[in-house]
Amino acid sequence: MAKVRIYQLARELGMESAELMELLDTMGVEYKSHASTLDAETAEAVKEIVREQRGLEEQRKAEEARKALPHRAPVVAVMGHVDHGKTTLLDYLRKTRVAEREAGGITQHIGAFDVHVGDKRIVFIDTPGHEAFTTIRERGARAADIAIIMVAADDGVMPQTREAIAHAKAAGIPMIFAINKIDLPQANVDRVMQDLMREGFVPEAYGGDAIVVPISAKTGQGVDELLEMLLLVAELEDLRADPEAEPKGVIIESKLDKRAGVLATILVQEGTLRIGDHVVAGEVWGRIRAMMNADGVRLEEAGPSTAVQVLGFSELPTAGDVLEWVPDEAAAKEISEERKEERKRREEEEAERRRVRSMADLLR
Ligand code: GTP
Ligand code: MG
Repeated sequence: MAKVRIYQLARELGMESAELMELLDTMGVEYKSHASTLDAETAEAVKEIVREQRGLEEQRKAEEARKALPHRAPVVAVMGHVDHGKTTLLDYLRKTRVAEREAGGITQHIGAFDVHVGDKRIVFIDTPGHEAFTTIRERGARAADIAIIMVAADDGVMPQTREAIAHAKAAGIPMIFAINKIDLPQANVDRVMQDLMREGFVPEAYGGDAIVVPISAKTGQGVDELLEMLLLVAELEDLRADPEAEPKGVIIESKLDKRAGVLATILVQEGTLRIGDHVVAGEVWGRIRAMMNADGVRLEEAGPSTAVQVLGFSELPTAGDVLEWVPDEAAAKEISEERKEERKRREEEEAERRRVRSMADLLR
């Protein structure tokens, strides 16, 4: 860049000459008037600073806008090694915290649901501990704000415990450790604490900052404290969402119900999902026909941080897929078609590559 006069540069940057001269003063650049010329290097430095300031200003505005949004409930993923008691904890919470349906009273397993704690709400997501579910677990962590890492007191830190920790770390979400099954005679809380220290987490009881709560998912011992800790951590996270935004969410699980058809559990993350809304999730489209919470209560709408069971998908959506709102059925079908074709094209390309490779191998 050639030399440039101050007023020219100011015009180029969309600012007043006086404003630019102030900036030059802070930079220690000498000049006589707004008609003085700046060398190319100085002009470039000015541009860089202005760009940066504007970036910061935008960030500040975005943060301010976020601060004006209402708070939302925390979404907690329960993670850990197989059989360490994740589902049992959720069943316990559902039994004690979620009003039972009149008929039955048996807890049907649902992968995500809301729990009321005083006047607060927490959304829980179950994640399977078996090795085969690595991807789902990974996605669970992505959909969550906080991870509970369950460690059985009779078993200690195991491979999938480490994996769960790694996923929570990768997702950048805070962890709370629940040492479970303390009702068992062979439970050894201290040993689990030692295990955790070896993983680099020093429990508060040992002077560190890792939150560790001994519990029994079976008897409920320690569960209130665990909920309290969750709310405390959630408060620090300052979670907010816009209920007026376009609805967005994630598929937690889906199944085919003999009577009802495709039944999907959705976590609404932003906006408000309403009956009649058109949606797409991956390659699947749908129109929300009915929504229920975990108690089987029908809902007309579901705002940010709400887990709902939904009817109205054309096919089974895939767990972990993002749920997007679309204006109408035509758009929903078109997007779903496009995605299917895109996947087919990718698969064909991959098959072609494999064919070429094996030909090359033959000719070698
Ligand atoms: P996966 O989903 O397969 O990874 O297992 P999970 O972590 O969900 O474990 P689950 O809740 O299915 O519990 C496994 C076994 O441990 C079950 O037999 C539970 O009854 C038992 N269990 C879970 N929590 C406790 C507890 O606090 N005390 C005792 N004594 N048993 C428990
Ligand atoms: Mg389970």
